[in-house]
Amino acid sequence: MQEYQDNPRLHLVRGEGSWLIDGEGRRYLDGNASVWTNVHGHNDPDLNRALREQAEQVAHVTLLGLNHPVATELAEDLAGLTGGALPRCLFTDNGSNAVEVALKLSFQYWQLVGQPARRGVISMEGAYHGDTFGTMAVGDRSEFHRRFNPWLFAAQTFPAPTHSECAGQVARSDATASLAALRAILERDGPTTACLILEPRVQGAAGMVQQPAGFVKAVTELCRRHDVHLILDEVFTGFGRLGALTSAETEGVVPDFLCLAKGLAAGYLPLAATLTSEKVYEAFLGAFSEGKTFFHGHTFSGNPLGCAVARASLCKLKPMLASGQVAERAALLGSEMEAAFAGHVHVCTFRQLGLTGSVEFKPAAADCWPTDTRAGYRVALAARRHGLVIRPLGDSILFVPPISIQADEVKHLVHAVRLAMDEVLPQLKAD
Ligand SMILES: Cc1ncc(COP(=O)(O)O)c(C=O)c1O
Repeated sequence: MQEYQDNPRLHLVRGEGSWLIDGEGRRYLDGNASVWTNVHGHNDPDLNRALREQAEQVAHVTLLGLNHPVATELAEDLAGLTGGALPRCLFTDNGSNAVEVALKLSFQYWQLVGQPARRGVISMEGAYHGDTFGTMAVGDRSEFHRRFNPWLFAAQTFPAPTHSECAGQVARSDATASLAALRAILERDGPTTACLILEPRVQGAAGMVQQPAGFVKAVTELCRRHDVHLILDEVFTGFGRLGALTSAETEGVVPDFLCLAKGLAAGYLPLAATLTSEKVYEAFLGAFSEGKTFFHGHTFSGNPLGCAVARASLCKLKPMLASGQVAERAALLGSEMEAAFAGHVHVCTFRQLGLTGSVEFKPAAADCWPTDTRAGYRVALAARRHGLVIRPLGDSILFVPPISIQADEVKHLVHAVRLAMDEVLPQLKAD
């Protein structure tokens, strides 16, 4: 807040495609896709229409004991994402809640089927699954959440694989140690483990940290061998971010729980969903006195406005992905990053997969800057002068544009970061 207070505040009053516009009419490319949510750009006429039409019917109906048709229709659309393998859907209103629901469902499921000893949870180092207590417990316990450690339940972690690619060129890749560590945990603790949670292919908040193709499948097979639920957190990776509707589809796996949010309602409204199988669903059926009820409901779960926009978004997104447009833009993002950052004196590493990317900065003649230098933050502030809003992470910048970004906008995105870093980084003192 001190930094926010001390620096110019930017109020954005309007959106148009990939652009956000401030009160003085200045235009900024949305390089952060409004916190990784935006799919079709801002102020999209089709999504606006869907929103208006639903608002004229009803703006909110609770899903606690009632329903509305658009939630049912959207649940059917979402079941199609896994070819019907996960036909059951519990709606919530943000990514953290989608994950909380999956964790709680898994925990309760094992009690309901007479295996209460299965209560452990495994996650991968560097994971970020949200800011609520359950999601903090299964997330990395470093900077974001360390303070809350004493209040968090225990979770086991296994190391992330090393993998880095940009524009399809793999710089380094090794998943052996990661999978061996996971195998050892499961061989020891499999019978007391309820679930494993993973952000497939890219850990966004860790800094777009990548896993090699095939890694998710290997993790899935290990979970299956030990009868451990697999929760895929596709809050970030879903809805075109990595070029397909889900990474589960690309990797050829079906998890036990699939968590969706962010791009689900295309950046218009807070909406999330946790998908699961018929087998899990049926374990929760029974007379009230049997105590099988899953007590988890949020006031705005499955809000009809969000559901209507989500249906309209899916309708537009499927042909966009099939046309190859997103794959083309992703390749362009990679080649532009390569051209702008390879060999740069202030770049220690950069990577890209789909429409995700990261560039990490370093001083020219030292390992790192003092913590309060805030190199990434300063570059992000300078980028505004070059018509770009973008998020830093430590001494890095994260590239997450709207899925519908145009080719000239991809070039603007990378060029503006390059201009901003060349302006800011040579001025920073490394001691
Ligand atoms: C992979 C992943 N899971 C969960 C979340 C939490 O989502 P929300 O901020 O909607 O609670 C995020 C947010 O960035 C995320 O990247």
